[in-house]
Amino acid sequence: MTRETIAIIDFGSQYGQLIARRVRENNVFSMVYPPSVTLEQLRSEGVTGIILSGGPASVYEKDAPVCDEKIFDLGVPVLGICYGMQIASKILGANIAPAHSREYGRSELQVTDTKDLLATVPELTTVWMSHGDQVNQLNDDFETLAKTQTCPYAAVRHKSKPFYGVQFHPEVTHTPNGATMLRNFLYNICKCKGDWQIKDFAQEAIEAVRKQVGSDTVICGLSGGVDSAVVAALLHKAIGDQLVCIFVDNGLLRNNERLGVETMFADHFKINLHVVDWSKQFLSKLAGVVDPQKKRKIIGAEFIEAFKSESKKIENAKFLAQGTLYPDVIESGAKGNLAANIKLHHNVGGLPEQLGFDLVEPLRDLFKDEVRLLGEFLGLPEDMVWRHPFPGPGLAVRIIGDITEEKLEIVRNADEILIDEIRAAGLYRNYSQTLAVLVPIETVGVMGDGRTYESVIAIRSVDTTDFMTADFSHIPYEVLGRISSRIINEVRGVNRVVYDISSKPPSTIEWE
Ligand code: XMP
Repeated sequence: MTRETIAIIDFGSQYGQLIARRVRENNVFSMVYPPSVTLEQLRSEGVTGIILSGGPASVYEKDAPVCDEKIFDLGVPVLGICYGMQIASKILGANIAPAHSREYGRSELQVTDTKDLLATVPELTTVWMSHGDQVNQLNDDFETLAKTQTCPYAAVRHKSKPFYGVQFHPEVTHTPNGATMLRNFLYNICKCKGDWQIKDFAQEAIEAVRKQVGSDTVICGLSGGVDSAVVAALLHKAIGDQLVCIFVDNGLLRNNERLGVETMFADHFKINLHVVDWSKQFLSKLAGVVDPQKKRKIIGAEFIEAFKSESKKIENAKFLAQGTLYPDVIESGAKGNLAANIKLHHNVGGLPEQLGFDLVEPLRDLFKDEVRLLGEFLGLPEDMVWRHPFPGPGLAVRIIGDITEEKLEIVRNADEILIDEIRAAGLYRNYSQTLAVLVPIETVGVMGDGRTYESVIAIRSVDTTDFMTADFSHIPYEVLGRISSRIINEVRGVNRVVYDISSKPPSTIEWE
């Protein structure tokens, strides 16, 4: 059975992934393809509709990307967005020219036809434009559905081919009725059923894993984070005892992290879990190391040692499970170098080659929010499913400078109070990542009658969807106040707490 799928042909748009997500939000599965995708491939995937994305090129540039011109003969509706509209219109005989001025930003759309694509969209609505070229002359095969002051053919329909085009971007939130337009395309035009659900995905993924691994054993490295937890839960459902999980205690974990993993996976799920205490090796290799990239290298290499040594003990292990997600796949596909770009997940990158494992990547078609839904469906607790990300090198990159047991103790305790208070205020799910950093400079304080010279804890919390750009979270002052006074009172060695109010870029999320 092929599942209802919308193909997105990505012409290099910054919004390619976003279109895919918007489609999936309508319970319709979507996949992103490069312009070189063949009609046979699209046909064999049984696509229900096609969206041609925007892109930075101009259709008359020498190497402007094009899709197969026969795409309109596949018999499925095609929606062209921005460059996608221009390239499709050009194939269908329209004239494209540079706009008088590059149009970028919000524009007022005047809707003149609300039959299908623009059904229920108000006569006047705001849309987001970002283009240099535009269609400036259409032949009689096209009908106009909407215009703006500077763009006479802002939305069009072809009379005989199943083609629609919009010059603006319906996928971004700056186009308030964009979601309606995409829904109209999916439901009115492509006649989608919209029956894609995470539980069906789970069932398909379970069957695919069973088929892939047969009776062999799969090793899964647990990091304590959501992706590897969901992979483990899914594999456990699929292959039960053929799954062996490895958790490396690197000595750089947060309070109770190892215990939490043991309780959940070994006690609750009854998964065969190997915990490797490699903390002494990590900490001795890290002693005196100040440079963050050096820290990362040491931790990566040591992780491989720990993992290798433990995995050798596991008989019949042929596969290694990884929590690769769809954005990694799209990104590496776009760069044309899938293998090299796959996320070095939980520092297990390099392991499959070194140990001769084949990869099992059951999440490679999912976006992060879908992984969380899958986690909930598989019965992982809310705490785990909605966990903020934690970097592979752990607290090593949250202690500025060299790492000692004492400093680890300080940052662990500060982190625990911070997260406690954020959770108690009901704010944990509001923020994308919240963390404490130990800044080991001694500043002056007073405690009782005496002066103190102690360290600074910096609080960092960010709001972001992609972790590439981020704003600092607006934690209420009262909550910041409680966090500060508890850390200063309860954590020995700290007499000052500061709040990081930088955005990314130019600052990064972690301090190292
Ligand atoms: P930055 O600090 O680059 O962080 O703004 C972006 C996201 O990546 C995480 N991060 C890491 N994750 N290994 C990881 O597995 C690393 O070396 C690493 N450095 C940063 C960071 O926590 C944030 O979520």
